[in-house]
Amino acid sequence: MVKLIGFKKVNTAVFISGAGSNLRSLIKFSLLKKSPIKINFIVSSKIKAKGLEYAKLHKIKKKTYNFKNISFSEKVLLKELEISKINLICLAGFMIILSKNFIKKFNGKILNIHPSLLPKYKGLNTHERVINNREKFSGCTVHYVNSQLDAGKIIMQKKVKVSKKENPQSLKEKILKQEHQIYPKAISKALTSL
Ligand code: GAR
Repeated sequence: MVKLIGFKKVNTAVFISGAGSNLRSLIKFSLLKKSPIKINFIVSSKIKAKGLEYAKLHKIKKKTYNFKNISFSEKVLLKELEISKINLICLAGFMIILSKNFIKKFNGKILNIHPSLLPKYKGLNTHERVINNREKFSGCTVHYVNSQLDAGKIIMQKKVKVSKKENPQSLKEKILKQEHQIYPKAISKALTSL
């Protein structure tokens, strides 16, 4: 858990790999006067991640790591996080599995958003699997990151209805809209629920 000290905003890093629509919503949230976070650092696992454009637009420090040599990338990254005095990490479409060692160093201070109603549909291709299984509902979950994939303590969830004519793309878009709503709320909850 993360302690909110006084009214000082918590220095936050957002990790991305792709489009960055959650990053965009988190930046918008961080710019509110009453927001508990300040986004100081954006980390990408892909040099061409579209989401990096938001770093440029908002003049936020950004770095890309390829994570091919995970222990080397994490070592360099940990140093950068220390330099930027980061106290909270928000994974937002970050497609790399962080090592146990890294997670331990930020114990209770890493959050993730996942596009399913965890504990159902951990891992990849959630929307395809939900549709193939003819689920009536799906949704999204914000949770703490622990050393097991998509299994940390749940902070907040939002359910959506899967319509009869749903396809993976339409379900993805429907759920993303909800993700943009709940991630900021879940961050506020995590930072105050002590
Ligand atoms: C989001 O749907 C997020 O929940 C998912 O990737 C998408 C990223 O979209 N994350 C995972 O699947 C993590 N396992 P974005 O780049 O537009 O925020």
